[in-house]
Amino acid sequence: MRQNVFILGATGNVGREIIQQIAQQDVPEWQRHKNPTVVVGLADSQNFAINTGGFSREFLQHFASTRQRVGDVMGAEKHGPEGNSNMLQTMEGKGYGEDMVYIDVTGEKETARDLHLNIIKNTKSQIATANKNPVGLYDYNTYQELTKDPTRYQYSATAMAGLGAVPWLSERHTIGDRIHRIDASLSGTLGFITDEMSKGMKLSNAIMEAKKRGYTEPDFRDDLNGIDVARKLTILAREAGFPIGFNDIAITSFLPQEYFMITDPQDCLERIGKNLDEPYADNAKSTLKSHAQTYRYLASLRWSGGNSKPELRVGTEAVSLESPFARLHGTDNFIQVVTDMYTEAKPYRLQGPGAGLDITASVLRRDLLRLQSSVARF
Ligand SMILES: NC(=O)c1ccc[n+]([C@@H]2O[C@H](COP(=O)([O-])OP(=O)(O)OC[C@H]3O[C@@H](n4cnc5c(N)ncnc54)[C@H](OP(=O)(O)O)[C@@H]3O)[C@@H](O)[C@H]2O)c1
Repeated sequence: MRQNVFILGATGNVGREIIQQIAQQDVPEWQRHKNPTVVVGLADSQNFAINTGGFSREFLQHFASTRQRVGDVMGAEKHGPEGNSNMLQTMEGKGYGEDMVYIDVTGEKETARDLHLNIIKNTKSQIATANKNPVGLYDYNTYQELTKDPTRYQYSATAMAGLGAVPWLSERHTIGDRIHRIDASLSGTLGFITDEMSKGMKLSNAIMEAKKRGYTEPDFRDDLNGIDVARKLTILAREAGFPIGFNDIAITSFLPQEYFMITDPQDCLERIGKNLDEPYADNAKSTLKSHAQTYRYLASLRWSGGNSKPELRVGTEAVSLESPFARLHGTDNFIQVVTDMYTEAKPYRLQGPGAGLDITASVLRRDLLRLQSSVARF
């Protein structure tokens, strides 16, 4: 059965990667999965374009590799900026009310939440999302409304995509294996920076190196305020069965707050070099010497049972050199979970690349497979 998809955020990093991956699927793979994904819609922040027959592979490959804008797409029906709010009606008008999967690879907040709710409540279409805001930033009711039917909503790419943490926690909760604690290193960027610092690199140099390797957001501070880690922890805690909100998380930013007020990122980096390199290095050295510990930026959940609310924290922690967190290298993510069955003595552990463009896009494609009605009845 043909699966029609509409990609929101088609001109972004993840958008172009998933378009490439879909275009590169060869016919034998289609036959194996009985899953011919056909891209019928593309949107960026300004325009959307529709080709009800499906955009050709050649076109998709060209679109993704030449960094074309949606407004410049030829041979398709195009709608301008005012059209994005009418996208659902337009698609319904073309007979795509039920038979459509929207892939959200934008970083939008309220507009994405409202669109997801609109699709789930008012249409029969499905969603696969790498955008974590709709499930991680708003109240628990929004999360429940969106995720209650897994045959219509898939979001494994929103947190630790590469490690499959979202479906694993959800399945543990569903079979009644209660989750008591989670400890996780959820940010590849902060993992890399703290690892380099533990090897003696200065804070400002570690940030510059992470930037140079393309690990950070365009403004590196977006990775260092703890918000992204907290959104991921919100999702993981909800999967573990706790009806918590983003505001229940105690967030300690990696950098002092005043560094987020400086307008120019380059100016900020210079001030970090001047004011923070030495104290951060001294602190790391003395902790290493006196307690055989190093620093990592971690997320944690502690549940003490009964009706108690879990304690949720995100921040810099000193960890023993023997701990698996201290042995983490590069941008690897790590999660350790204690449940009724995976006890303190034998916790569940997973380590590996948490995200990255290729892995995120491939996890979205796995979510597309799950949304295929035959596969979704797992
Ligand atoms: N990068 C990763 O490795 C990774 C991993 C996991 C999850 N994610 C998540 O995936 C999402 C995309 O990340 P990215 O790095 O690809 O971001 P990006 O490069 O900034 O791309 C964002 C895309 O969204 C489009 N967009 C913005 N507002 C829109 C709207 N109202 N309607 C339709 N499209 C809109 C942008 O269009 P314009 O070109 O017109 O601005 C652009 O195509 C984010 O939520 C991110 O957190 C990323």
